[in-house]
Amino acid sequence: MADKDLNEELIICRCQEVTKAQILQAIRDGARTVDGVKKRTRAGMGLCQGKTCARLVAQIISQECGIPMEELLPATYRAPVRPVNMGDFLEDGADETV
Ligand code: FES
Repeated sequence: MADKDLNEELIICRCQEVTKAQILQAIRDGARTVDGVKKRTRAGMGLCQGKTCARLVAQIISQECGIPMEELLPATYRAPVRPVNMGDFLEDGADETV
C-alpha cells in the first residue's frame, strides 16, 4: 500500500470512525465548512461532539481548499450529553417513586 493510501486511511474522527479519505470525498462533494463535512460524514457527531476531530477536519479543509483556518473555526457545537438520574431533578424530600 502506498504512503498516500495509508495517510488517507487515518481515522480522523475516532468517535464515528471517519477516515481522512471520507473527509476528502466530502470536500470533493462540495463541503467547504466543518459543518458541511459533519453533515456528509458524521465526523463531529460522536460522544466528544467534535472536540477531538473538529480542528483536524478544519485543517484538512484548509489544506485542500486554501481556506484560512480562522475562517473555518469555530463550528457549532452541541452541549455534551451525559446520562442524568431522574432523581436529580426532584427537590430534596420529594417522592422519588413518581
Ligand atoms: S472524535 Fe469526532 S466526534 Fe469525537
